[in-house]
Amino acid sequence: MEKKLKTVITYGTFDMFHIGHLRMLQRLAEMGNKLIVAVSSDEFNALKGKKCLISYEQRAEIIGNLKMVDLVIPETHWEQKVEDVQKYDVDIFAIGDDWEGKFDFLKEFCEVKYMERTKDISTTQLKKSLSKFLTIPKEDIIRALEVLEILKKDLE
Ligand code: CTP
Repeated sequence: MEKKLKTVITYGTFDMFHIGHLRMLQRLAEMGNKLIVAVSSDEFNALKGKKCLISYEQRAEIIGNLKMVDLVIPETHWEQKVEDVQKYDVDIFAIGDDWEGKFDFLKEFCEVKYMERTKDISTTQLKKSLSKFLTIPKEDIIRALEVLEILKKDLE
């Protein structure tokens, strides 16, 4: 019997692309024959109070160049999901389980799956790690460099 072709759609910000993003997209691609990724626009992120390090254009370019992704579309507002599911004849809507239950209203139109996330990594965590570097006061860095210089001279 011929296997039914399935279209999968997912939504996300995908800022500072990391291993959790990659693994999620790999698993989603295995669930069907066509994977559509809606990448949130910078304007939509601003609306959500989220600020990305990487612009929409670059985030969309990275996602669009992954071999498991067939189509990238912008996510510009909360209400577009039903429209997208119908427009692209989507069979499965899937997203990380941090959104568990939030998109059950789509069950009327397609299958809805909440996927387990990769542990111990997120863009928020990466940003936090980065901010630790940035909060070291400039004077402390200068002082540390001076100390290193003194130690170096002592060794000469
Ligand atoms: N994702 C995942 N495992 C992670 C991080 C993200 O499976 N460790 C999934 C999310 O559940 C989502 C997709 O990747 O389906 C895009 O997630 P996004 O919100 O862009 O990534 P986060 O790293 O969670 O970003 P943030 O910390 O800003 O929420």
